[in-house]
Amino acid sequence: MNQPRRVEHQETDKGYVPVYTTAVVEQPWADYKAEDHATWGALYQRQRELLVGRACDEFLRAQDEMGMTPHAIPRFDQLNEVLGAATGWTLVGVEGLLPELEFFDHLANRRFPVTWWIRRPDQIDYIAEPDLFHDLFGHVPLLMNPLFADYMEAYGRGGVKAHGIGPEALVNLTRLYWYTVEFGLINTPEGLRIYGSGIVSSKGESLYSLESDAPNRIGFDLERVMRTRYRIDTFQKTYFVIDSFAQLIAATEPDFTPIYARLAQREAFAAGKVLESDQVFTRGSGEGWATDADV
Ligand code: PHE
Ligand code: CO
Repeated sequence: MNQPRRVEHQETDKGYVPVYTTAVVEQPWADYKAEDHATWGALYQRQRELLVGRACDEFLRAQDEMGMTPHAIPRFDQLNEVLGAATGWTLVGVEGLLPELEFFDHLANRRFPVTWWIRRPDQIDYIAEPDLFHDLFGHVPLLMNPLFADYMEAYGRGGVKAHGIGPEALVNLTRLYWYTVEFGLINTPEGLRIYGSGIVSSKGESLYSLESDAPNRIGFDLERVMRTRYRIDTFQKTYFVIDSFAQLIAATEPDFTPIYARLAQREAFAAGKVLESDQVFTRGSGEGWATDADV
């Protein structure tokens, strides 16, 4: 049941990525094989164990509240009852990555697109594109959090606007998504914790992002983040740390239109660069990084 046929490809700023049908599809729950449920269960169990004390409390608590378990792939319709009651978000099934404008439109309307198919057993440790485990385990729990739920809707509306402004604005906005929604860390009294979906759905990066000496960990600053390039094919060279979801919302509330105009005049920063103005939590050793073949 895993992995639908690729329909076409699309050239984006992330390179050449596959695009499937962009329609919303019913989750074909009855068609999942025992092997698919087992893949979910193995990944769920492994990550939950690893994430206690590593992911932020909001994430872990929400996952429990939603009733996700390792026993079977959750049903979107059941999750939607809990999620709808909590924050008004709805999960919709999709085949995979969506064109940007369609993705933004879903978010702006509090619909979160979830890839319905799950990776094969031989892809447990790594899969290049988002699958059900990444989307559901990684992204959906924080939609239960009222602040984060609002942030995601605001991001969707901001995306529609940036799309209208032009490709450079979209690059800036996409970096914000990358360094918060996908790869964000949050500072807590107990220490740094993970909230980014790209980290929580990866065993290797859950450990690396918090425990490795290699990457930089730098305090979140909106324009700094929007100017920072990123890697999609390796662990991150830099993680940006927020103090709270309230801080993230306050920082992203202003109209970005003048920011996009200003940033269009400025150069971008390499992914591993540390600036004098940075609030440095940890300066990376850079160990294991390829020579700065930029980004
Ligand atoms: N305030 C942003 C804008 O005007 C919208 C936005 C909100 C973008 C939250 C990202 C996150 O474009
Ligand atoms: Co993602």
